[in-house]
Amino acid sequence: MPRLRGPAPNLPQGDAAWPILNEGLFGDQARGGHDRAPRPDAVPVDWRAVFGREAPRTLEIGFNRGRFLRDLAARWPDHDHVGIEVRRSYAWRVAELMARDGGPRNVRLVWADAKLVVPATFGPDGLAHVFVNFPDPWWKRRHEKRRLVDLDFARTLADRVAPGGRIWIKSDVLAIADEIAEALAAVPSLGPPVPFDVGDLPLTHRERACLVTGLPISRYAVTRGA
Ligand SMILES: C[S@@+](CC[C@H](N)C(=O)[O-])C[C@H]1O[C@@H](n2cnc3c(N)ncnc32)[C@H](O)[C@@H]1O
Repeated sequence: MPRLRGPAPNLPQGDAAWPILNEGLFGDQARGGHDRAPRPDAVPVDWRAVFGREAPRTLEIGFNRGRFLRDLAARWPDHDHVGIEVRRSYAWRVAELMARDGGPRNVRLVWADAKLVVPATFGPDGLAHVFVNFPDPWWKRRHEKRRLVDLDFARTLADRVAPGGRIWIKSDVLAIADEIAEALAAVPSLGPPVPFDVGDLPLTHRERACLVTGLPISRYAVTRGA
């Protein structure tokens, strides 16, 4: 798989822009990132039209270099996979790589803040799986509100995941993993956290680094009840 290096990425243009959905959601492919919610007339997204088929959908929040997302697409070809990443350079670079490689065609990207995009973009029960891989810890007290999975967002995710669907968490910041588990535990429709093994899902970029340095990693999933 190509490495993410080199000059600043270019936004793919014309037909090559197929991997990234910002134009449809925000009215311009070059609009996105923090503080921007999708246009009301663009949501909820018709995912069947986007992917050209009806298949169970997954969401990865914070796909960064896109390695996990693209490996997952190869491992689960019968699912469609959506990734949201708030940093433009990563979103555009992964889009560029996908346009160059012509795939995977069962992946689409959004450059945006997941907290603003997920509630509007996916209807209730619209996701089979959600992956939150090594979310930023936002250590400083004044940055705490930027943490990804607070109680509000836990409720949003629980509502968007279909019955029997899963929310998977990986983190090397054990306090953050515990904090997320606490938020998920407060949502009555979600079951208890169940640990999973390193081989159950593709590795992420951060996970590889942790495995090399021997940092402990918390991995668990919660399942939505009926
Ligand atoms: C610590 S990195 C982990 C990257 C990757 N998941 C991994 O495991 O290697 C966290 C990633 O989440 C992205 N991110 C943070 N907050 C986000 C948000 N609200 N919406 C979308 N992406 C976000 C960051 O830009 C960054 O790429």
